[in-house]
Amino acid sequence: MVLSNLTPTSTSHDRPAFDVFQGFALCAVLSSLETTGALDVLVRDGGWDGLAADGEELLATELLRYLTERGMLHRRDGRYELTPVAEAVRADIGYLVWLCGGYGVPLRSVGDLLTGALRYGGDTTRDGRGVAVGSAIVGARDLVPPARELLAGVRVDHAVDLGCGNARFLLSVCRAADAGGLGLDVNADACAEARREIDAAGVADRITVRCADAGALDGIPELARTDLVIAFFLLHEILADGRPALVGYLRNLAGRLPDGAHLLVAEVSPDPARPAGGHLFNPEFTLVHAMMRQRLMDESGWRETFAAGGFDLVRAVHPRMPGSLLMLARKGA
Ligand SMILES: C[S@@+](CC[C@H](N)C(=O)[O-])C[C@H]1O[C@@H](n2cnc3c(N)ncnc32)[C@H](O)[C@@H]1O
Repeated sequence: MVLSNLTPTSTSHDRPAFDVFQGFALCAVLSSLETTGALDVLVRDGGWDGLAADGEELLATELLRYLTERGMLHRRDGRYELTPVAEAVRADIGYLVWLCGGYGVPLRSVGDLLTGALRYGGDTTRDGRGVAVGSAIVGARDLVPPARELLAGVRVDHAVDLGCGNARFLLSVCRAADAGGLGLDVNADACAEARREIDAAGVADRITVRCADAGALDGIPELARTDLVIAFFLLHEILADGRPALVGYLRNLAGRLPDGAHLLVAEVSPDPARPAGGHLFNPEFTLVHAMMRQRLMDESGWRETFAAGGFDLVRAVHPRMPGSLLMLARKGA
């Protein structure tokens, strides 16, 4: 199963629980080391000299030993290096940060959510920073290049990103087009990440972040002068209230935008028949969203919903992100 193919210390096939056991531990450890920057330090310095807090030297030593035993590190000339398998895992680490960092806590309570002992959103919820950071890492590799291609030829003077996460995509679009922008996110941690990114890029004079519910469009007067709305993994949150709610939302959005404005949407489609490795990610993505009482829609459902909501679907492509759908729509005449 999962890791027995990867690690030199493969588990015996009659005890597959240990594959799951190892997968959980590696997912949690690697995503946390990535998020805190400790993995960067390890790659750069070949070790963690001076990184461990006082009293945590044992943890540092054991982490290095553990990662070596699990085939993620090897030691050469006194330095720790990522193995080829670890390099390959790291290339997709955004998925681990998204899952473990973002949804690790509520997923561990899924039984209580099932029986009603706990309620998602009240008793337990996702970690906004983990979701925002993980999504941005995933997006940088698997979504941004095709999204930029879809936007070629689309004029952008002002962009609004609904559910902007850490705003990396908004930043890249606005910088490429020399445009202004507004990012909205309901999560305070995601907004803090976004502000950090915008300040670091030195463009706070023309790109701002508002910590607000993107469902409340009357709180976004900037839409009247916006020629591109970005909604990456946001619309299924509106869909949680039913398709009529999403259609109403899109109609309201179209009504506030100037003629010819574009809408760029990324979603994950639940279609199990989809080729190109949808099974790599799709069941977990669909499950996590069911935990939040959110349904996903396939491509034809999106096409019909856009049309009912006042947008024409211009193009849909399937990016590298397994099971994902990138759609460019235009406000209908
Ligand atoms: C999966 S993340 C995607 C982040 C970013 N768009 C990206 O692609 O990297 C979804 C984001 O939408 C935000 N979000 C969810 N519901 C929202 C709402 N009603 N209003 C504003 N933001 C929302 C979440 O806090 C989260 O940061």
